[in-house]
Amino acid sequence: MSSSILVTGGAGYIGSHIVLQLLLGGYKAVVVDNLDNSSEIALKRIKDLAGENGPNLTFNKIDLRDKPALEKLFASEKFDAVIHFAGLKAVGESVEKPLMYYNNNLIGTITLLEVMAAHGCKKLAFSSSATVYGWPKVVPCTEESPVSAMNPYGRTKLFIEEICRDLHLSDSSWKIILLRYFNPVGSHPSGSLGEDPRGIPNNLMPFVQQVAVGRRPALTVFGTDYGTKDGTGVRDFIHVVDLADGYIAALNKLSDPSVGCEVYNLGTGKGTSVLEMVAAFEKASGKKIPLVKASRRPGDAEILYGSTEKAERELNWKAKYGIEEMCRDQWNWASKNPYGYDSTN
Ligand code: NAD
Ligand code: UFG
Repeated sequence: MSSSILVTGGAGYIGSHIVLQLLLGGYKAVVVDNLDNSSEIALKRIKDLAGENGPNLTFNKIDLRDKPALEKLFASEKFDAVIHFAGLKAVGESVEKPLMYYNNNLIGTITLLEVMAAHGCKKLAFSSSATVYGWPKVVPCTEESPVSAMNPYGRTKLFIEEICRDLHLSDSSWKIILLRYFNPVGSHPSGSLGEDPRGIPNNLMPFVQQVAVGRRPALTVFGTDYGTKDGTGVRDFIHVVDLADGYIAALNKLSDPSVGCEVYNLGTGKGTSVLEMVAAFEKASGKKIPLVKASRRPGDAEILYGSTEKAERELNWKAKYGIEEMCRDQWNWASKNPYGYDSTN
């Protein structure tokens, strides 16, 4: 019988790509999502892309904080592991509405962990973030680099990491992998799945994509006076399909009896500046992206990229794609779905 994996936040940008990879890999995927920042159309498209494995996807519109609903789900089905993406992720919004972030991300996670424990499901892969490295003094960041949070969103990630460590200390039968990943971009090569943020995009590439399709006039570049090659911020961009493969590798690792509570970076190990990324997107799309130079965005790090050695060594995983493929696939998605999942049904 195939393994059944519960994916919280599975209708979202990253979750949808992982759900597809799970189905293609022969897993059963059960998605829990409240659809606050996603569309059910993504799930329909995943089923189509998964072909004969499509029926192995089921969806439950549940908010993670709804404990009775979660209880009912766990009582009806046995899960081999949980991949946990569900959460709010906009840094600026978390500064304005900290309680909303602590409520959703912390209470959602604690409720999930309680229900998992009650049903004897003790394997978890959690979406942490490279944001926990703050403004690093030394790059690349390794899993041992100092951590700090610059905003409530980042603090929810740090707190959840600590909760997971405490849980494992209290009961060593838990197996938990904390994945700190860097800046996911790109889309499934079919162009059927991709990032579709609500409102004004916070992140670089969704904004660039909306400029390219004519929804916004120009990209505001936050900071041109950093001590980097061209003065703009440097990040470790990773193709979302590589990230999905990293999750499958983490899932396999959860079956290794030696695993306790482990943290892994998922990145490419390479730093790319904002202007380099824009140039790569212009090349892939053939569209000019007008730029407006602006001051630094509060809370942004100058240079953030990660060491990939631990994931390569212990998960046997390495990112395959570079920024050309990321921009090619992102443009494929954007040009086919200029208004995201609302473009078509
Ligand atoms: P996303 O918003 O597209 O996906 C998150 C999903 O969770 C959405 O579908 C949303 O509707 C759902 N959700 C939120 N709160 C919920 C709740 N209480 N109950 C049920 N469902 C809920 O975001 P994403 O980019 O796919 O990110 C997924 C995870 O990865 C998040 O935890 C995020 O913090 C983390 N992460 C994202 C990035 C990034 O740059 N995109 C980087 C590092 C880490
Ligand atoms: N940027 C712009 N203009 C924009 C948006 C972003 O110049 O309109 C710049 C930023 O100033 C930064 C770079 O592009 O220098 C990357 O910014 P993003 O907002 O795309 O990504 P961040 O690195 O700030 O953060 C993202 C996610 C976090 C996650 C982190 C992990 O938003 O949730 O990656 O590294 F934790």
